[in-house]
Amino acid sequence: MLSLLAVAAAIPAIVNAQGSSSLPAPSVSILSQNPTAVPLSQINVAEPTSTTLAPGWTTTPTAGAVPTFIPGAPGLPDVTKLVPSNYPTLDKLPDITSPEVQQWIAEVKASGVQIPNISPTVLGGCAANAEAASDQSRCWWTCGGCVRDTDITTCPDKLTWGLTYDDGPAWFTPNLLQYLDANDLKSTFFVVGSRAISYPALLQTEFMAEHQIAVHTWSHPYLSTLSNEQIIAELGWSKKIIKDVLGITPNMMRPPYGDIDDRVRAISLAMGLTPVMWTRISPTATFDTGDYDIHGGTITSQQVLKNWDYILGNATTINTGFIVLEHDLFQQTVEIATGYILPDALARTNPKFNIKPVISCLNKPMQDAYIETNNNQSNSQPANSPSGSVSALSSGASGSVQATGGASHGGSHSSSAVGLFNPGFFVYAVEVAAIAISVIF
Ligand SMILES: *[C@@H]1O[C@H](CO)[C@@H](O)[C@H](O)[C@H]1NC(C)=O
Ligand SMILES: *[C@@H]1O[C@H](CO)[C@@H](O)[C@H](O)[C@H]1NC(C)=O
Ligand SMILES: [Zn+2]
Repeated sequence: MLSLLAVAAAIPAIVNAQGSSSLPAPSVSILSQNPTAVPLSQINVAEPTSTTLAPGWTTTPTAGAVPTFIPGAPGLPDVTKLVPSNYPTLDKLPDITSPEVQQWIAEVKASGVQIPNISPTVLGGCAANAEAASDQSRCWWTCGGCVRDTDITTCPDKLTWGLTYDDGPAWFTPNLLQYLDANDLKSTFFVVGSRAISYPALLQTEFMAEHQIAVHTWSHPYLSTLSNEQIIAELGWSKKIIKDVLGITPNMMRPPYGDIDDRVRAISLAMGLTPVMWTRISPTATFDTGDYDIHGGTITSQQVLKNWDYILGNATTINTGFIVLEHDLFQQTVEIATGYILPDALARTNPKFNIKPVISCLNKPMQDAYIETNNNQSNSQPANSPSGSVSALSSGASGSVQATGGASHGGSHSSSAVGLFNPGFFVYAVEVAAIAISVIF
């Protein structure tokens, strides 16, 4: 059944988006690929984006349909009643003077969570922020991979893979959902609010297929560069649109580009959102497939499979499970997932991987992934209360700091363009448009 495929050795390197240098095409061995996979050489920068959803799913959930797999959840809202003009402009920082944001600011103040007085960073990553980068007290993941006990960075059980896709729902998401369904796989989707308001029925479909939905901000900024109020606005609006579409509110978030420090952490926790990163075991072994950058031409699909091969190799050497960064934003990222990465993972039986959404890999039921249905008594993590976050955040010693090195995901994004979600680069989105943290009571 399983044939060892030697992919890419004969495939010429593609010319990258800038048209200057060509990238190497490493030879990659994977165990299995989807018989209908798009040839690897065709998964490249030339593939388009569209505002029309790719075919792949036919049933739109009905308003009022009850997600019976989440005890206590209400029926689905009627998405035809959503009024986009009641939400911020797509892919822009929301206005912080709106009544909604003012209320969320007041709620954060009332939560009793002390937001540490850390200055915002500037765009440009570690190089542009030498002082912040060397200031270990702020536990800035971007420069050195620092994490706190309140961050979810792995799945506890060895060989368990917390499957995650970021930045959707988007035009190729239906194909990913179809593949996941056909193979009985469930994932966590970190949803961008601007995409949720654009494709609410698709988000409902994702949710009703029993995938976990979580927060990935409204406009995908580097959160550490924002003011407290702007961070609250980004998280608040994405919580709100997801609740307006699904009827319940996620309690996990992933910071875009992994850009989190103790200030961003405290605000997230004060808003009932537990940060979820991807596994990073050293400056060079970050569990990021790099799939996002195929679209921009700074990585080849062959190199993404090579990264995948390294991730699997590293995953077998650690005593915990792992969480991998992938995206459902682009045709390229979906095609490499459904054509290669997932078939390869499923074909590996020695050892076998257990593939689960993050909430399930933590051995918690799906209802614990949402603020309204989470059992707050027996479930301290994800944190919903200041008291839940105190113990883990108050000890500075709990932060783990690794040697400063390039963060591959954030690094590749920030070096290729300042804010890939800006209108010039992110054509797709524009077309759619229309701790030492101190915690006190
Ligand atoms: C772990 O990943 C690094 C680079 O990401 C790679 O060089 C190394 O070979 C990997 N280890 C295994 C056992 O695959
Ligand atoms: C848990 O707390 C949240 C508010 O923080 C509340 O909305 C929710 O209803 C509570 N969950 C249960 C099961 O009581
Ligand atoms: Zn993202």
